[in-house]
Amino acid sequence: MTQILLALVVVANLVVIFTKASASARRVNEIFDIKPSITDDLNSVVTPIQNSPAIVFDDVSFSYGSTGENALENLSVSIDKGETVGIIGGTGSGKTTLVNLIARFYDTTTGNVYINGVNVKNYPFSQLRCLIGVVPQSATLFSGTVRENLKWGNENANDAELDEAVSIAQASEFVSKLNGGYDYKIAQSGKNLSGGQRQRLTIARALVKNPEILILDDSASALDFATDAALRNAISKNTQAMTVIIVSQRATTIKNADKIIVLDEGGVAGIGTHDELFLSCEVYREICLSQQSVEEASR
Ligand SMILES: Nc1ncnc2c1ncn2[C@@H]1O[C@H](COP(=O)(O)OP(=O)(O)OP(=O)(O)O)[C@@H](O)[C@H]1O
Ligand SMILES: [Mg+2]
Repeated sequence: MTQILLALVVVANLVVIFTKASASARRVNEIFDIKPSITDDLNSVVTPIQNSPAIVFDDVSFSYGSTGENALENLSVSIDKGETVGIIGGTGSGKTTLVNLIARFYDTTTGNVYINGVNVKNYPFSQLRCLIGVVPQSATLFSGTVRENLKWGNENANDAELDEAVSIAQASEFVSKLNGGYDYKIAQSGKNLSGGQRQRLTIARALVKNPEILILDDSASALDFATDAALRNAISKNTQAMTVIIVSQRATTIKNADKIIVLDEGGVAGIGTHDELFLSCEVYREICLSQQSVEEASR
């Protein structure tokens, strides 16, 4: 009787397992069947147009599909090669959305984005993303050693190149203190490092790639003011040929940029240098004054 009962239990379990498996298989197949909405032509090779600006937004509007509301509206801006551009604006004003359009993580709803004079839609992904180094807003590292993480953008980088990138990112000191240096094991998504350490390593990772266009999306938010200032100095000294886009909530971080773009609820509230905007742009002046005293801010 016991043996028969046990056999029946096994059969009952099998039925449950098969039901679960078939439901899971259906879901997995659904995922495999999804076609990406953004595709590229693998075989095309794009030749950049000489003497064209590095990045041009031509009357770009963008909405995240279902919501219908525009996250960016009629944005037109031109960024020259080698320029440092600051982007500032309140939470949800569309800063991350703007930089995501450069690397074509999303396609514009209307209007076009051009890099080196060529529409981003004509680039093969490999060529486009070779040009651009993005440090995303949430610093994400992968499990593995520090070295493996840094080599993400350039597999052939040697230790001297890693050293240089790490020192620009102001991370030399803490990396040298880690047990094993570059061979220190990082836990899943970098949990055994502090937020600021993670941010500095993600900046170094982007620099190792030596991209033409460097995008820092609020990448210094967890750093103290002194480290933030040292980082900006090192970046501007060592990346003269690079077009650098710095997104920040802090007015001091972007104050010295060649051009500042002020976003307000998806629209451009002003474009210019700190001095011009401080006089002419209400939104920018409010941001500066909310963070500093009047004399400090106008300087
Ligand atoms: N994946 C998404 N799907 C739908 N709506 C989104 C998505 N990402 C952002 N949004 C919306 O788009 C608008 C702009 O968001 P965005 O992330 O560009 O803001 P932000 O300026 O980077 O803000 P923060 O300073 O907080 O990073 C917000 O209103 C947000 O709700
Ligand atoms: Mg953002």
